[in-house]
Amino acid sequence: RIVYLNGAFLPENEAHISIFDRGFLFGDGIYEVTAVLDGKLIDSPLHMTRLERSVREIGGHLPISTDEIVAIEKRLVEENNLTEGVIYLQYTRGAEDRNFLYSENLEPTLLLFTQEKTLEHVAAVEKGLKVKIVPDQRWERRDIKTVCLLPQVLAKRIAKAEGCDEAWMVEDGFVTEGASSTAYIITHDDKIVTRGNGTAILPGCTRLAVLDLAREQGLTIEERPFTPEEAMAAREACLTSASNFIVPITFIDGKPVGDGKPGAMFTRLRTLYMDNAR
Ligand code: PDD
Repeated sequence: RIVYLNGAFLPENEAHISIFDRGFLFGDGIYEVTAVLDGKLIDSPLHMTRLERSVREIGGHLPISTDEIVAIEKRLVEENNLTEGVIYLQYTRGAEDRNFLYSENLEPTLLLFTQEKTLEHVAAVEKGLKVKIVPDQRWERRDIKTVCLLPQVLAKRIAKAEGCDEAWMVEDGFVTEGASSTAYIITHDDKIVTRGNGTAILPGCTRLAVLDLAREQGLTIEERPFTPEEAMAAREACLTSASNFIVPITFIDGKPVGDGKPGAMFTRLRTLYMDNAR
């Protein structure tokens, strides 16, 4: 693979980052994951807006413009012949001798690489995913897409150990979101329910795109928290993320959601999203 690191396009084994990089030592960094379908970037402006916001919120600065970043992403797609997969971008505050405080003139690290991944024709669309309920053990600024992902790494490991595909994190009795996805339920009267944006969750780019499409169709959206109990009694559940688009959830903590099969609202939303992506 050809990757991008600090101004250069390099073979992956020639791209090196300092042992003093603050992303490595402190988790002092931000990331983005953008889907690629048919060689095209999906929801790219939404990811660039969120990247700029995350970087601003940690008091950092992007070394190049988001237009330049998009141009780099397009070149990586081309150089690597990527038709379907994701682009991972990581920004860190840079490298210097270890100190909690950082120098104001520090040059940031910017790394981008592609990953091949099937996004469209995946078994999960027909079969659905299984979700495990876990406590949300993250910090209070989940709206920042930080590389500090240890709570999510541990949550996903617990989910996997129980034969599940994703963890839904719960705080004060309500689902916040998935370990790497936005959480939804569909009520018996056809309402799409998902938590409102704020500091408790990451504002999903796929969430924004899907809700816009749903609104255009006149579907009813309720932006509010829901409990695991409400989810288990719902007609449908699903999740969205750049690396899955939208996929159905058919089991929560071992109990079937609705009839345990992907539902009609999910199918409608997936079709809407995929048609729009094309
Ligand atoms: N995760 N919530 C969390 C905690 C996430 O990590 C993600 C994305 C989302 C969905 O956001 P979006 O629709 O913009 O991808 C919600 C990425 C894909 C990851 O960590 O790999």
